[in-house]
Amino acid sequence: MSERLKLEEQYRHAQKMEAVGQLAGGLAHDFNNILQGILSYAQIMLDDEHTSGSAREGLLEIKRSAQRAGDLTRQLLTFSRRQIMQPKALDLNEVVDGIARMLTRLLGEQYRVEWIPGKGLHSVFADPGMVEQALMNLGINGRDAMPEGGTLTIETDNVQLDLDYCENHIWAKPGRFVLLSVTDTGQGMDEETRTHIFEPFFTTKAVGKGTGLGLATVYGIVQQHEGMIEVYSEPGHGTTFKIYFPECHPEGVAELGSTIQEVAVQGGSETILLAEDNALVRKLGQDVLQGVGYRVLSAADGQQACKLFEQHRDEICLVILDVVMPRLSGPKILGRIREMAPDVPFLFTSGYGERTVKTQFVHDEGLHMLQKPYAPQRLLLLVRQLLDGDA
Ligand SMILES: Nc1ncnc2c1ncn2[C@@H]1O[C@H](COP(=O)(O)OP(=O)(O)O)[C@@H](O)[C@H]1O
Ligand SMILES: [Mg+2]
Repeated sequence: MSERLKLEEQYRHAQKMEAVGQLAGGLAHDFNNILQGILSYAQIMLDDEHTSGSAREGLLEIKRSAQRAGDLTRQLLTFSRRQIMQPKALDLNEVVDGIARMLTRLLGEQYRVEWIPGKGLHSVFADPGMVEQALMNLGINGRDAMPEGGTLTIETDNVQLDLDYCENHIWAKPGRFVLLSVTDTGQGMDEETRTHIFEPFFTTKAVGKGTGLGLATVYGIVQQHEGMIEVYSEPGHGTTFKIYFPECHPEGVAELGSTIQEVAVQGGSETILLAEDNALVRKLGQDVLQGVGYRVLSAADGQQACKLFEQHRDEICLVILDVVMPRLSGPKILGRIREMAPDVPFLFTSGYGERTVKTQFVHDEGLHMLQKPYAPQRLLLLVRQLLDGDA
């Protein structure tokens, strides 16, 4: 398969996950309200001293079932990113340590849990409860894959992803990460299974055994942390899951915190010029912006961007520019547009690191930069802030 096809497939897959997540989130939300009613009325009746005997037992059962359903919806909500997360600077080793102990107790005698903490591990900006939940889900899947027993290995490490890697993985971004990997010596998966594992309700387990929500939840958690997840597996050779958490930069903490958390993102009706040479990313940006009401003029290269600005200079309220583009690069476009309109705000996007030769000018100019791939929420938040002049 060509690189391009592969990237498109990855993009489609991401879109599909997004759509299913929205759907699941919407359902879970409504469902939660219904559960709220069931639980409340069961409790009111239980609190009544006249309720006794089999009625009381029945009510207790209703309550327990509703609580189980509540656990499921919570998983769904996490998957669809509607649960507010509470991230903080975190030593992943500390979190994993507790869960590794718990797994050791939980899994039973025919299992060995090997926990290899990375040395000098950098901190991450994460929600400890969510990290625990992700790790538990991976651990339990590992157990399920080793019905006869085996070894579950949990490791952490500092890693750096380079541009080469990222060019072949559309979701990957270059930078420094803390890697959490979970490996089992179980039955593994074939390719067909592997392509579906993150989908909600996908399970190969017997009815009543699997919900198919474990990995969907893990996926949601990783997304919320702006991290990445990878899986290596072959039938009969076990499985490794790798989660990359972005390293926590002390100066970036405040900013990250305000963006990852659920914020009610406001749209608008302003006109925005979007210049981006990658067709997929351009389409994505356009969809996201138009989805909340903005009017978008899009350009595929630097010259087109300048021309569009010239034609619509009175309407355009914000310019979103990819730093590296064909025919005219970021700094040149910036110069030309500023000649026409000195005050129009700019937002630069880049797949390269924060401070490279190509992106340094953005910092020098005190302008705003959004790293690709970006979360749609993040884009919308920055766009609104820039339009309102309070970024
Ligand atoms: N460690 C693993 N080894 C083999 N297969 C796995 C592993 N983890 C997940 N899977 C596959 O992915 C599917 C989905 O996992 P998950 O979302 O946790 O749902 P569930 O565990 O309820 O089936 C599993 O049914 C299984 O086929
Ligand atoms: Mg599972």
